[in-house]
Amino acid sequence: MSRLEVEHLYKVFGRRPQDAVARLRQGADREELRADGATAAVIDASVTVEPGEIFVVMGLSGSGKSTLLRMLNGLLAPTAGRVLFDGQDLTRLPTRDLRRLRARRISMVFQHFALFPHRSVLDNAAYGLAVQGVPRPERERRAAEALALAGLAGWESSWPDELSGGMQQRVGLARALATDADLLLMDESFSALDPLIRKEMQDQLLGLQRTLRKTIVFITHDLNEATRLGDRIAVMRDGRIVQTGTPREIVTQPANDYVASFVQDVDRSRILTADAVMEPPAVTVRPDDRLSQVRRTLDGREQPVAFVVDRNGVLIGTISRDTAAGTRREADADGDRAVRDLMDADPVAVAVDAGLAELFAPCATSALPVPVVDGERRLLGVVPRAGLLAALGDRPVGGDPRPGPVPPPNPAPPTPVPPPRSPGRAGDDAVPDRTVTDLPGKEAAGA
Ligand SMILES: Nc1ncnc2c1ncn2[C@@H]1O[C@H](COP(=O)(O)OP(=O)(O)O)[C@@H](O)[C@H]1O
Ligand SMILES: [Mg+2]
Repeated sequence: MSRLEVEHLYKVFGRRPQDAVARLRQGADREELRADGATAAVIDASVTVEPGEIFVVMGLSGSGKSTLLRMLNGLLAPTAGRVLFDGQDLTRLPTRDLRRLRARRISMVFQHFALFPHRSVLDNAAYGLAVQGVPRPERERRAAEALALAGLAGWESSWPDELSGGMQQRVGLARALATDADLLLMDESFSALDPLIRKEMQDQLLGLQRTLRKTIVFITHDLNEATRLGDRIAVMRDGRIVQTGTPREIVTQPANDYVASFVQDVDRSRILTADAVMEPPAVTVRPDDRLSQVRRTLDGREQPVAFVVDRNGVLIGTISRDTAAGTRREADADGDRAVRDLMDADPVAVAVDAGLAELFAPCATSALPVPVVDGERRLLGVVPRAGLLAALGDRPVGGDPRPGPVPPPNPAPPTPVPPPRSPGRAGDDAVPDRTVTDLPGKEAAGA
């Protein structure tokens, strides 16, 4: 079961919200409603969030992120639509149950975490547990554990004003972790921090997540933060979710020009991995094949190399066109020799989940396509130099469908050479005039 299911959610502030929803459903836009005194903060939002996932909601200030988040824990009642938490419809829960759920199973971390100035760091971290009525010794123990997880061991008896901004934010994180909530809602939690501390907090959150496996909905207006943290990202614009996908999908297949303009400045070498740019290997041969067969397979084709794979598809060598051709006389003599005797064994290969940055060195030192392998060193594809360079440009590259493992080779007839990819994005000239990857954080109304 999904941890969260959000179904056609609307939130309208101001006059006659139900009428406004009816008009939105009939195609009215936000501006029309605003003229009538209604603010459509969230319009027809549907998402599902799986247990253990970091789900990022990204969008400019005012796009409806905080409003959406507040409906996920029932702090705000939707104008229309439903929110299911572990299958339970929050919009139908009695207030008491809702409050209980919020205290025990859902925690929220804000941008400016309000610490109690006259309570120790330990008491601040234990606050959520105190609200739950957990007895003091237990809550102090759990709060101390959470502080240690957040990197604040040793600061338990300090006062909040003895801590830097980053450390105060860690106390907020510790407070959320101490309650053992399944769902963490983080609203621009790192946005007020200096860039270096912010990066540190992101790393820490990822580190914690590897062991704690919480479900996290993380709001940010920063694309690099979104792609670093998110398993999936929903992009919001003017109250609507305009695209949901993995960081790579958002970057390589933006749903519209708005999203494209958002992602054009992102560091692609960090987001894209080898499988996003690899192509099927053109020629694969088996170690027992004869050299004359390889020569025939390579003859008349552009390929500079054949990849040698065993019967399980594991890459064990390469054999270059030159080796296969030899001098005519040698070649005649060698034609009967097995590939395994003449191949270059154990070629350099990159892992399928390696970032593009890791492909630079092998691509720079060899003119041959770089083989891409899985954890068992099975050959999955190759990255030609040109493919790597194209991927780093601002054009979408073909990420899907991914080629699967290479089937056992069958040297003749050769596999067809894949058609060249045709990059290029429709409407390159039609990007919106705003290009924003990081706006100064503006605290939303009521945050
Ligand atoms: N309590 C409220 N009353 C009226 N309008 C609100 C309220 N909260 C938010 N809004 C409006 O709803 C829109 C979305 O706001 P918000 O969800 O805070 O966006 P974000 O978090 O993406 O900056 C904005 O136009 C904002 O002014
Ligand atoms: Mg906000």
